[in-house]
Parts: sequence; C-alpha cells; structure tokens
Amino acid sequence: MSEFTPPKAPAHIRQGSSIGQPLTRRDGFLKVTGAARYAADNHPAGMLYAVIAHSSIACGRVSFLDVDAARGHPGVVDIMTPQHKPELAMDPDAKLHPFMFRMDLLQNDRVRYATQPIAVVIAETLEAATEGALLLAPRYEIETAAVGLDGAESFVPPGVGAGNPAAASKGDVQAGLAGASLRIEATYETPSQYHNAMEPHAIVVAWHGDTLSIDMPTQGLVMTQSRIAAMFGIPPEDVHIRSPFLGGGFGSKGLAAGPQILGVMAARMTGRPIKLVLRREQMYGPVGHRAATRQTLRLGADGEGSLTAIDHHAKTTSSTFDDFFEPAADVSHTMYASPAIATSHEAVRVNTGTPLFMRAPGEATGSIALESAIDEMAQACGMDPLAFRLKNYAEVEPISGKPFSSKALRQCYAQGAERFGWATRKLEPRQMRDEDGMLVGWGVGTATFPALMFQGQARAVLRADGSGVMETGAHDMGQGAWTALAQIAADGLGLEIDQVEFRSGTSDLPDAGIAGGSAHTATAGIAIHGAGADVIAKLADLATGDERSPLFGAGNTGVLARAGRLFRRDDESRSETYGDILVRAGLAEIEGRGSSAPDPAALSAYAMHAHGAVFAEVKVDPDLGQIRVTRLIGAFAAGTIINPHLVRSQYYGGMIWGMSFALHEHAIIDPRSGRVMNPNLGEYHIPVNADVPSIEAILVEERDPYVNALGIKGVGEIGVTGSAGAIANAVWHATGVRVRHFPITLDRLIERR
Ligand code: MOS
Repeated sequence: MSEFTPPKAPAHIRQGSSIGQPLTRRDGFLKVTGAARYAADNHPAGMLYAVIAHSSIACGRVSFLDVDAARGHPGVVDIMTPQHKPELAMDPDAKLHPFMFRMDLLQNDRVRYATQPIAVVIAETLEAATEGALLLAPRYEIETAAVGLDGAESFVPPGVGAGNPAAASKGDVQAGLAGASLRIEATYETPSQYHNAMEPHAIVVAWHGDTLSIDMPTQGLVMTQSRIAAMFGIPPEDVHIRSPFLGGGFGSKGLAAGPQILGVMAARMTGRPIKLVLRREQMYGPVGHRAATRQTLRLGADGEGSLTAIDHHAKTTSSTFDDFFEPAADVSHTMYASPAIATSHEAVRVNTGTPLFMRAPGEATGSIALESAIDEMAQACGMDPLAFRLKNYAEVEPISGKPFSSKALRQCYAQGAERFGWATRKLEPRQMRDEDGMLVGWGVGTATFPALMFQGQARAVLRADGSGVMETGAHDMGQGAWTALAQIAADGLGLEIDQVEFRSGTSDLPDAGIAGGSAHTATAGIAIHGAGADVIAKLADLATGDERSPLFGAGNTGVLARAGRLFRRDDESRSETYGDILVRAGLAEIEGRGSSAPDPAALSAYAMHAHGAVFAEVKVDPDLGQIRVTRLIGAFAAGTIINPHLVRSQYYGGMIWGMSFALHEHAIIDPRSGRVMNPNLGEYHIPVNADVPSIEAILVEERDPYVNALGIKGVGEIGVTGSAGAIANAVWHATGVRVRHFPITLDRLIERR
C-alpha cells in the first residue's frame, strides 16, 4: 500500500476542517460487531415470511400450479398467484417515464424470463414458506426463448443509458478512416453480469391502515417511496422507509424492485407484517443486470500516431418487455482526441430480465473495448501504449469541443507510470519472464467517469448547547456516506464532527437524491454545505445585529464560523460561541436549509469528468494459460477529496471489479433455455482475496472550480473503467495473444495461442 499523504485543503475549505481528513468509517464498529441493522434483520411482531416461487423457463406460460398441495402444508398461510392477489392502483406494465421499469407482479400467467416470480407463498416460518413454494411444482407451456446477441432481429434503440441519443458523431469518420495510414478494426464481446450485492434485495413491511412502514435497502429513498405509493394508491408521505445500511447496491437498488413490491402485496393480502428476502439465484432475473455487448471499433491513425477517426459501434441486449440499453459506445465521446468520432448502438430483445444501470454503466463495457482497441492501434503504430495515449490526449472534450472543467489526467499518467516503473517496459509482447518462467506483461488503461450532481436537500440545526444537527435522506451502500457527509456537515456548521448529529437513511428526511452515478457525495454534500451556510448566516444576523455581541456591526460577510464560534473576519480576537448568541436571543435552536442542483450554465460551458490511469502487471503460465494479476496501480483525479481513506477504498473496489470484468465475471446463459446456469457465488466467479494483488490508489491533486461549490467529483464508478482494459492489455503484452472476448479465461487464451 502506498504511503498516505493527506491532500492539502483547497482554498475554499477552511483550515482545521473535517473535510479532507482520513477518518475511518463512523459506522464501522456497528458493522464489524454485527450491530448494524440491515433491512432483513427486522422482525416486527406477528411477522410472516414470504417466499417467491420463480419460473424455470424463460419464455411461455405457467399452465398449472399445485396450489392445493402448497395450501396443505401446515405452516402455509396463503398463496399469492395471478388469480389470488390484492388489487394494485397501477398497472405494473405502465411506463410513465424512462426510469419507471416494468415489473412482474403476477399480473398474468406469462413468463418473460427465467427466474421471473410466478407465485408467492406466505407462511409462519421461512422453512414452511420455502417448502410451500416447492410444493407448487409448476407446469409450463414452453415457447422458444430468444437468447443472446444474435437471438432476435436487431433495431436501433430510441436512446441509450439515461436518455442519450443512440448515435452521435462529429467530423467525417469515413474520410478519417480512408485517409489514415494505419487502420484497425476489431470486435470485442462482453458478457451479461449480475450486480450480486452481498445483501440480497429484501423488504420487511407492515401496513397500519393505509400507511406503510418499510425496511428495505434502497439507493433512492424518495423515488422508491413514490413508486410504492403509486402502486398502492396512497400518498408518498404515508410510505415510511428506513434504509440506514445497504450491503451493496451497484445500481440494482436504485429503484423499487418487483420482488419488494410483492412483499408489500403479501402484507396487504394477509393483513400481517411480511419479510421477503431474495435467495441468491433469484437475483439473476428480476433485479437487473449488466447487458451483454458486442462492440466493433474502427480506428485510423496517421504516420505520426495521431488518431484520424474513431468509430465505435455497440450491439446490446434488452428484455422483451422493457427498455434499458447499455450505452457502451458513448465512452468514445470523451476519451481521445480525434478529428472524427462516431458512436452508434443497436439492440436485440431477448428473454431476460430487464438490464439496468450497473457500476459504471456504459463506461465499464465501453472502455474495456476502447482501451483494448487503443492498445491494438498503439501496437500497429509501433508506439508505447502510454506514449500513444499521450499523443492523442484530449485537451477538450472530443465530441463536444467543450473545455474540461478540470482534467489532471496527464498527472495521473505521470504519477502512475512513475510509481509502476513503466519506463522499463519492453515494447514487444512476450519479452518478460519472472524467475519461475512465468510470462510477465504490463498494460495501461485510461479511466473516466462523468462528474454528475443531482437535486438534493438538507436541513441544519444549531442548538443553544453548542451542538448541531444535519438531516438529509442519504444512502450508505458501503461507500461511506455516514462518514463523508458528516464531515461536510461538520465543515458547514463550523463544528467538530462529534458535535454534529448526522441523521440520514430514512424517507422522512429531506430528499438527498439518488445514490447513483457516482454523484451522491456531490448531491447530498452540496445540499449539506448550503444548509450549513444558511444556518450560520442566520446566526450571524442575530449576532451582528445585536449591540451586546462582540460581533455587532460586522455584517454577514464579515464573519467566520469555526470551532463552534463566530469570529469577526477583520479581527479574530472578537468572537462568540453559537450557544451565547442563541441564549441571548432567547432561542433554543436555529434552523437552516440547503439544496443542490446541477448548474445548467456550467454544464453547457464545460465537460465535467473525473479521470485516471491504471497500470497492471500480470503473470501468465506459458503452458496452462493461467493468469495472475500481480500489481495494480491506479492514479485518479476527482476534484476535492472529502475523505482520502474512504476514497481509496472506493478506488480499490472499482479496480477489483475491473479485474473481475477482465478475468472472472460472466453469467453463463444456456442458449437453448435462456437460463443463467451459474446463478450463485460459487460458480459466478468474482475475485477473492487470493486473486487480488497488491493494489495502490494514488490520489492526484485536482481543483475544480466549476463542478460544484466544493469541487467534488465522483469516485464510486471510475475505478472499474481503466482497470479492466489495463489488465486485458497486460495479458496481451505477456503473451502476444489478444483475447477480445471477455472475461479472458484460460481456455480462451489457450485456444487463441
Ligand atoms: Mo450506480 S450503476 O449509478 O449505482
């Protein structure tokens, strides 16, 4: 692990602030002692267990369920089927906006994908509900399932990702390719992947008349609240959701999932509280996945190694009944300078659950292909892959021509390369061996992710006893929001972190927006920052307008808040505690509000992205093709770092996921049945500790005056983007074999040798 040097606080963050401090997770003790209460840890009195029976076919209809047999089980209380279920206020197949995903709520007997819920058995115990679900012994009328990237007729999707156009271009790509002295064309395939959060989707739910109390993990409290309210025809404020901790989400818990709504229905039907928890295999269907892609890259370069054209085309899969299209090609909009760039997408509809956002959606799939192709082009040009990337460094955002709000990628390349020792790399592949005769390869990949911010709100309170409160309905899915946001709260209130009560994780608090798009720290953080500034301004008004105060006459702008006191800016010997100000004013407390929202003027003027460079070393057994990643060094620039300790942890997680993408992870789908054949963590391989090498994440200093008031960019998703490509490129450098079908498993490596 690298030495830790805390980054200097930017000028707009006061000295002594908790921003920038490498605090350990404030909820860490609760988690390691098992005291943190996750949704499924709740057991309201009188609770029943609901277990989903799911389809074992991918397409057709359920022709028979042995409901009588299941009912005969002594512990079974009721069975929810398409014929026997509570009314919903809204059609589960309605789609009023792009983020309203269609759900399978037993609306009929159709089966649209394997693992689709087809009934719910409710019982006094988990065992009885599980046995009851088995007794249903479904029979089906099976229809041929559409499976895979060639499984149906393709079409151009109406949009990709969160509403980007399916195609975009600048310049003349055909001319750029035709005029190039070197051209490459290569096709890469990435598999379906599943989010596989450690904590399965779960809900514990109770109706009290027409109001709901719910424990469930969610990355989007308010969106989830309004979705549930609409499904049951009740006002959103009557849906009370607690989601203090999530055991991972990665995009799959951004919205209410169908199985969770089934839990609410079961509670409605039985009139008793319900617990419904998905089994691991049930997470391979109704709760989203990363869609498979096949991407063709055509690149042209001139005799000097400058790109003349980038053409990035991606084919992907969506479900037969809903729209989500992985925006894989869009990463080529921002990465490398080229006079001509074109991106396009096509899609097929197959019998799968609807794909969804999954950690770095689009960037993860797209960058492993683009970074491989860039490497292939560097090789064609006879250039070092890092030198080639620097030669084609984008000084402005390539497709839009906009300046970057900040971009310290050059420093990322330099610091990462230095730390890695890249300068001694051999240009040709298969030139390096270790003392055991293993082939050694070094690869580099560029990382990028947009710096986003959504709308959020926060409420701050200062109390006469000198303490503070900060409230915002933020989400901690393991990334450390309980800590990082409390640091921003302490900074905003001018208090020590332990003097601030940070309240978060429930739907009754101000809306902190969704924890997604690597935007949560910015979204919730800027709202918190604003609420702090607002309450301090009110306090300053009280003091500066009162002639009994040492601050009298200083005016609002002439005051500093620090360590629980207000100071005159022009004379710091004159100060007063918050408590004294409030007591004299006869107030027990004072309240402030803050909000965050993207700034349209800044967004139209600047391209906003975080950047990074990842360097990988792999060792490959020349006989067996076994691949080991032995070193992984990432250098990332993402604006202001609120907590370097937590940020490095986010980068490590992303880099390990990149490794998983490059070498391990894929859902194996039976081409005949459309079923995922490895729906468990035994056979769906992800890296374990023994796979993960020494990892370093270098925090490259970067100040961004435009992204938001604190200069925060996101750190959650960028790590996966450069790492996967760096590892793939290192495998090529070790072996001279370019595997374009991910993950690079040893059979694929040996087959192409
Ligand atoms: Mo993320 S895929 O925006 O949780």
